[in-house]
Amino acid sequence: MTHDVIYLDNNATTRVDPAAFEAAAPYFCDLYGNPSSIHTFGGNVAKAVLKARLQVAELLNAPYRNADGVPTEIIFTSCGTEADNAAILSGLAARPSRKKIVTTRVEHAALLNQCRNLEHEGYEVVRLGVDGHGRLDMDEVRRAIDADTAIVSVMWANNETGTVFPISEIAKIAHDHGALFHTDAVQAAGKIPIDLEKNSEIDMLSIAGHKLHAPKGIGVLFVRRGVRFKPFVVGGHQEFGRRGGTENVPSIVALGKAAELAREGLEEEVLRLGRLRDRLEKGVLGSIDHIRINGDLNSRLPNTSSISFEYIEGEAILLMLDQFGICASSGSACTTGSLEPSHVLRAMGLPYTAAHGTIRFSFSKFNTGEEVDRVLEVLPGVISTLRQLSPYWPPKES
Ligand SMILES: Cc1ncc(COP(=O)(O)O)c(C=O)c1O
Repeated sequence: MTHDVIYLDNNATTRVDPAAFEAAAPYFCDLYGNPSSIHTFGGNVAKAVLKARLQVAELLNAPYRNADGVPTEIIFTSCGTEADNAAILSGLAARPSRKKIVTTRVEHAALLNQCRNLEHEGYEVVRLGVDGHGRLDMDEVRRAIDADTAIVSVMWANNETGTVFPISEIAKIAHDHGALFHTDAVQAAGKIPIDLEKNSEIDMLSIAGHKLHAPKGIGVLFVRRGVRFKPFVVGGHQEFGRRGGTENVPSIVALGKAAELAREGLEEEVLRLGRLRDRLEKGVLGSIDHIRINGDLNSRLPNTSSISFEYIEGEAILLMLDQFGICASSGSACTTGSLEPSHVLRAMGLPYTAAHGTIRFSFSKFNTGEEVDRVLEVLPGVISTLRQLSPYWPPKES
């Protein structure tokens, strides 16, 4: 079992909630019918899929129901990546005379790599930059979106720093120019309130089950009623003809339950997670020098803390923390022969000595204050040991 592990890498993936697992379990060996079947056995499974669709719609506050009470704006996909890809491609298909995509430099690879491919096909891609705190410049946003823009895609919250973007404002600008607006809410859903009734300018939104205590391999694309949609996975009539393929029923049921649980506890959990994060950051600030806390401190997810420990390598910190059973992640991606900081930290213009030593701690409802205290017991020693070995330490200015 994993009890001796302190898991602070919840933006990478989360533990499946035992209640979500329990809800899904009967749909493997007992209730294994195909939801599209005419017989009652399959029909009962279809009812479970409908229940999950309603649970997800409630988490997102997407109130539209068709005449049969079905929230047809919720489309189950295989993951967040598929939802992102489907949104971009469908957005371009819906505005065929327009050739421009506006996005940011700090999106997930699911978005950025699809955009790069589209650029090779002749589309113009504008990637908005961010400042040192990971914030967009709204004047730049306004200048970038124009009558040739088919779709604007800006994430709700960044996976590395937790920075939350003013997506409602950006969506409005997109609509002023007749463009569609999509947001990757993979890191936001279940962590902060999402209200698609209030944020009525959002046309499409992606989520991924495994970031909110459902299994890996299940996602959702919300497509607002009236928005033209071109299926990405073409096949059978599933998902209202918008996503072919027999439904991943157990994962859909688990996601429904996870969404229900996230919604029920959200208000309290936002505060609790914020307290855990602040306890960590306060402790780190009080015990380790030459650090910086990254992201927009006035607008970020309550569960995410990105901390740069200057003059050392993030990977070394992670390996040492791992020896204490502490799981976190770094803001670096290993490329052949060199350790390059992530595109997010590069976009923020972090100095080399800080970007390389950046660690992301991300909390979930399963983390406790005792776990934070254990990290604070271990971390100063880890940082000090590594700095003694670092060729950049002590820093020249001191
Ligand atoms: C912001 C963001 N978007 C998209 C994804 C991709 O989701 P999935 O792993 O379900 O494909 C992730 C996963 O890390 C993410 O953090």
